[in-house]
Amino acid sequence: MTILEQLRQDHINMWRLLGILKQKVSKLRDGEHPNFGLLDEAVDYMRNYADEYHHPWENKLFVHFAGRDAVLDKVMACCEAQHHEMLKSGAELAEALDCILHDAVIPMDKFTDRLEQFVLQQSEHLKLEDETLMPTLLGIATTVDWQELELELSRPDDPLFGETQSTRYSTLYQQLLSAETES
Ligand SMILES: [Fe+2]
Ligand SMILES: [Fe+2]
Repeated sequence: MTILEQLRQDHINMWRLLGILKQKVSKLRDGEHPNFGLLDEAVDYMRNYADEYHHPWENKLFVHFAGRDAVLDKVMACCEAQHHEMLKSGAELAEALDCILHDAVIPMDKFTDRLEQFVLQQSEHLKLEDETLMPTLLGIATTVDWQELELELSRPDDPLFGETQSTRYSTLYQQLLSAETES
């Protein structure tokens, strides 16, 4: 897989996860209790893979292309700022989930608001990258850029969508598989 294909695949995977999280928001709004263990795995994956690998990877890409084009610089700065913001809201959401999993009483409507906010923030970010960043980048990047980037960026192993799934995401993995069978 080339860097570009990997980035696109990561985004497709993240959209799938956000779809699951969106369903959980609806369930919570209907007064139902979702599977919090599964929710925890999805949020943990977003924090583990997106925050630890995917976003730092993109940040390195931004450094490579910095100063080439004013429009691209602006979009990259915006995406990088969002990476920072998502770190913070992901940590807050994980903390709230941890409380629930440890039987602490927290208002469910507040938790739902936080989860919904997280989904919205992540979705807006992916949308900005898919619809604005990527097309702008593709108009500027050359074959040489991609060759250089292949050498500059090391490839992380995806613990959910990669070749080897981590046992920590087993419930989530099953859910993704069954969602696929249903559709
Ligand atoms: Fe990003
Ligand atoms: Fe991204």
